[in-house]
Amino acid sequence: MQLKQILADAVARLTAEHVPSPRMNAELLFMFTLGCDRAYLYAHPERELTGDEQSRYEAALSERSRGLPAQYITGHQEFWGMDLIVSPAVLIPRPETEHVIETVVELAGLTGDGGPRSPHTGLRLADIGTGSGCIALALAQELPQAEIHATDISTPALEVARANAARHQLESRIQFHQADLLEGFENSSFDFIVSNPPYVGESEEDQVQLEVRKFEPRNAVFAGPTGLEVIARLIPRAHAALRPSGWLVMEISGTISEEVRRLLRDWNDVRIRPDLQSIPRVAQARK
Ligand SMILES: C[S@@+](CC[C@H](N)C(=O)[O-])C[C@H]1O[C@@H](n2cnc3c(N)ncnc32)[C@H](O)[C@@H]1O
Repeated sequence: MQLKQILADAVARLTAEHVPSPRMNAELLFMFTLGCDRAYLYAHPERELTGDEQSRYEAALSERSRGLPAQYITGHQEFWGMDLIVSPAVLIPRPETEHVIETVVELAGLTGDGGPRSPHTGLRLADIGTGSGCIALALAQELPQAEIHATDISTPALEVARANAARHQLESRIQFHQADLLEGFENSSFDFIVSNPPYVGESEEDQVQLEVRKFEPRNAVFAGPTGLEVIARLIPRAHAALRPSGWLVMEISGTISEEVRRLLRDWNDVRIRPDLQSIPRVAQARK
């Protein structure tokens, strides 16, 4: 059977099964199966697929049809221009998390008292709940002189993060630790504590996409009944582990933004930045 016919059938099947962006998914899985880019798909519409290629494509399509995110099928997701390995042990990095990186890079250009500072002076940073390592890796690239620590409570997630650091030759730049939040880093004098913590409440579970609920790690998504449980523990621990005037930068959601502002009432320069959909997304606060 020819590539163009198989692709058309796949788009029809994914559409019928209500998979979002069916053409994009069908093409992505084709590129994964054939190890090619999109241009190849359009340049060779009459290419006959081997039996092995057809059965591998069929297997990938079946997984996608049952809701498994394409990134867990291909094992890859792009973040901050880097190709990252992902597995069901880690949250799939989201584009909105790039606002966390933008915020830290911007604040790293300031001194503790608000004046200019070279981003090349030695900063100490901690990424809490590193998952795939996406935040720690992006910051290691952007702040080449920074000392970076990354923690996660999940051992399988840390294995993925370490693999990503090795893949991008950043393993010597990031120290990974299995820890509950900042356990072991009390009184550490960090310049930045950065986190995309679990922040969805179990009470809003039915508003979360089925694919996320079924396939992404529960302890990466849900914090507890209200969604604030991990952040409420992180804020005082971050205060203890930051140097005076150090910054806490966290990804949050619109649902909890006012509660987060309340929890940060004793901090300085609190600001909540919106994402591209104008949803409150990044909370920053200075010790
Ligand atoms: C929302 S995911 C973020 C992953 C990654 N930083 C990102 O932005 O894609 C939250 C991560 O926090 C980790 N986590 C949950 N509770 C934790 C805790 N108490 N201490 C450390 N890490 C925790 C989870 O294992 C998960 O990897």
